[in-house]
Amino acid sequence: MSDVEQRHGGERDGSLVDVVRRCDLILTCGPGGVGKTTTAAALGVAAARAGRRTVVVTVDPARRLADALGLAQGAAADQPHQVPEVTRRSTDGELWALMLDAEKTFDRLVRSQSANRAQAEAVLNNPVYQAISGSLSGAQEYMAIERLHELHVSGEWDLVIVDTPPSRHAIDLLEAPDRLVGFLGHPIYRALTVGQRTFAKVTDAASSMFLWAVKRLAGPQIVEDTVEFFRSLANIEGGLRRRAKEVSKLLRADSTAFVVVSSPRAEAVGEAGHLLDAVGEKGFPLGGLVVNLIHPLPVALSDDDEGLLADLDDGPLLDHLAWHRELSTLALAERREIEALEALAADAPVVELPLLDVDVHDVEGLVGLASRLVERADPPGSS
Ligand SMILES: Nc1ncnc2c1ncn2[C@@H]1O[C@H](COP(=O)(O)OP(=O)(O)OP(=O)(O)O)[C@@H](O)[C@H]1O
Ligand SMILES: [Mg+2]
Repeated sequence: MSDVEQRHGGERDGSLVDVVRRCDLILTCGPGGVGKTTTAAALGVAAARAGRRTVVVTVDPARRLADALGLAQGAAADQPHQVPEVTRRSTDGELWALMLDAEKTFDRLVRSQSANRAQAEAVLNNPVYQAISGSLSGAQEYMAIERLHELHVSGEWDLVIVDTPPSRHAIDLLEAPDRLVGFLGHPIYRALTVGQRTFAKVTDAASSMFLWAVKRLAGPQIVEDTVEFFRSLANIEGGLRRRAKEVSKLLRADSTAFVVVSSPRAEAVGEAGHLLDAVGEKGFPLGGLVVNLIHPLPVALSDDDEGLLADLDDGPLLDHLAWHRELSTLALAERREIEALEALAADAPVVELPLLDVDVHDVEGLVGLASRLVERADPPGSS
């Protein structure tokens, strides 16, 4: 049997127990659909059971998971709700959960950075702001981080865990604060925020082309609203920049941990690999790597077995054998992908989670996953 075959799919190589006990901020990030939300919730369960008062910020959880976390109530879902079923199972800890509402978070950010109510209302009531605040490129990512900052500075929590949105590129999250500052420094933005008289004289080709195009496509009112929006935003620009810097520093603190989640499929591994590189390059602390949805490696067939099965006639047994071979090939390919990822995780713990038969959608399922995330694998030779 090869080394790869000996290391069975679903075995755990590490543990996130130190991250869950020590950190005060955890962000789960990774490619789409690999289990970021599920991992964030399971880490929350593990932390509560380790005695910590924990809040998990979820982004668009699957419905049944939202129900299990008590987040189906709609309007107030963006405020922390206790998850009594988890708190009850924890000696000192508590689990609370909320659902990210990017627009409401953006509104609160505008209010907190405005000098007065009128200044805030000018931004909030602008039709352009209302149209773009939820859909601005990177806004979801930035607001997930902003929410984390809000909860962290409230001083109410031992640990804040933030799940991240299904981005086209997982790396968007890391770049969100810098992107906001970059946007505020963009020539079009600068041209749009200068005073009325200067604005009339602006000859910057890019901004006049931009305005001409907007006018053609959407009509003059939109142009006025747009210019007005950028001007009102200029009042809070200093505050936004300061906040982006604070957030950027917070994300690099020793007590923060990024947990990269991936599946062992080649496409996800490629993206998670880029993300791991970027986390290191940009100086974010890597708390660990979770490889989720791993197919179990079927029992290997001996030469004798192969001999016995060589001349099967068509029928269920032959079908079963073909399925066994396919699954073995898939599971072995996954092992190779996992090894490539592990090499990129450097010294950080790597936790491997099997593809389970059922969706993880209730507290019971989360408790099971939580144990797998924080248990240490037995050292070789112990029993
Ligand atoms: N180990 C597992 N075994 C079986 N099902 C799982 C496992 N982990 C997660 N799932 C299921 O996979 C689905 C996707 O998980 P989840 O929503 O956590 O992924 P995500 O990375 O947050 O996705 P998105 O990028 O869309 O936000 C869910 O239905 C979840 O219950
Ligand atoms: Mg998700």
